[in-house]
Amino acid sequence: MGFTKWLSKSFPVDQEALIQLTAEPIPNHLKRWWWALGGTPMYMFVVQVITGLMLIFYYVPDTEHAYKSIAYITYEADYGWLIRSIHRWSSNIMIASLILHMMRVFFTKSYKAPRDLNWMFGVVLFLLTLMLGFTGYSLVYEQMSYWAMKVGTGIAGATPFIGGWIADFMRGGSEIGQNTLTRFFLFHVVLLPILIALAVVVHLYLIRTHGVTEHKFKGDENLEKKTFPLWPDHIMTELVMVSIIMVALVVLAILFPAQLGDPANPNVTPLHIKPEWYFYPVFRWLKVTNLMIGVLGPISFLGILFFWPFIDKTFDKWFPEREVGFWIGIIGMLTICVFTIWEIFGH
Ligand code: HEM
Repeated sequence: MGFTKWLSKSFPVDQEALIQLTAEPIPNHLKRWWWALGGTPMYMFVVQVITGLMLIFYYVPDTEHAYKSIAYITYEADYGWLIRSIHRWSSNIMIASLILHMMRVFFTKSYKAPRDLNWMFGVVLFLLTLMLGFTGYSLVYEQMSYWAMKVGTGIAGATPFIGGWIADFMRGGSEIGQNTLTRFFLFHVVLLPILIALAVVVHLYLIRTHGVTEHKFKGDENLEKKTFPLWPDHIMTELVMVSIIMVALVVLAILFPAQLGDPANPNVTPLHIKPEWYFYPVFRWLKVTNLMIGVLGPISFLGILFFWPFIDKTFDKWFPEREVGFWIGIIGMLTICVFTIWEIFGH
């Protein structure tokens, strides 16, 4: 018996079902890669899981040894610096591509029913990814990580009604210490990755059931077919994208490797505390408002983002001739950009 025959007998696969699964028709506009940005965060997530597992071989989630273990990975373990840098850069690219993916979905109004629920799932995915970044940054246990934890848990603590409970839950007590590091480690390596993986599966399932929204481009009307198959056409587009991103990822990791600051010291407050770039707008907002408004601002922003498909529907009903949603999106984006630039250059 040949190998193929043996395999199909011992591990029977429903060929028809497999063909059905990969024969999803894809609208023509997805041949343009910037319309297919949703795949990028997915690859970056996979890269993070693989490099993260490698890092766990050496990382010690203990306040005495966490920083030393990262120093060992960075300066002594073979290629440790490269794995750590790729892990860090992939988290940044995942968040950047998520923002671009959200913007593309937002400005093309692809969140409209029946995709409204999927948009809401997307917002949850975005939040989970931000939490993944925050908890990862904290594990290094350098000065910036420690003070970012301190500020982050302090902000969470100012949430109305449940703030105190959330802050204590995050810290595992009233102070940052071993319990906090253990919890952040558990969130970063187990709970958040599992939740993100499950949410991505639901997100993709809903995309498959609804199909991707069709968008018409100039010249598309001359095309014979309105769609093209997932396999092999779309997979090829995705493969080209993955290859380019992988090269960019390694180049960035080599040119700008992950750094290591001073070890955490609860007794010395650094002159300038800086979170990761994706928290810059919130951080600046907190600096120019008081703590209560500082916390209510981002919560309201997330609430609006979450319910946006319904809010926009109401605007469309009230002002059918005007692009209210579009302009709110532009103003929102400009505000975020201004706050980010302000935080980069301000003190
Ligand atoms: C890890 C996170 C995510 C992954 C892996 C992902 C993946 C994808 C993929 C592969 C598509 C197909 C079209 C494309 O490539 O653009 C898509 C579409 C979509 N995504 Fe995401 N996405 C993620 C996060 C988000 C977020 C944060 C939002 C919004 C808040 C969102 C909302 C949507 C919607 C509404 C569609 C349907 C778009 C259409 O019909 O044209 N996704 N996503």
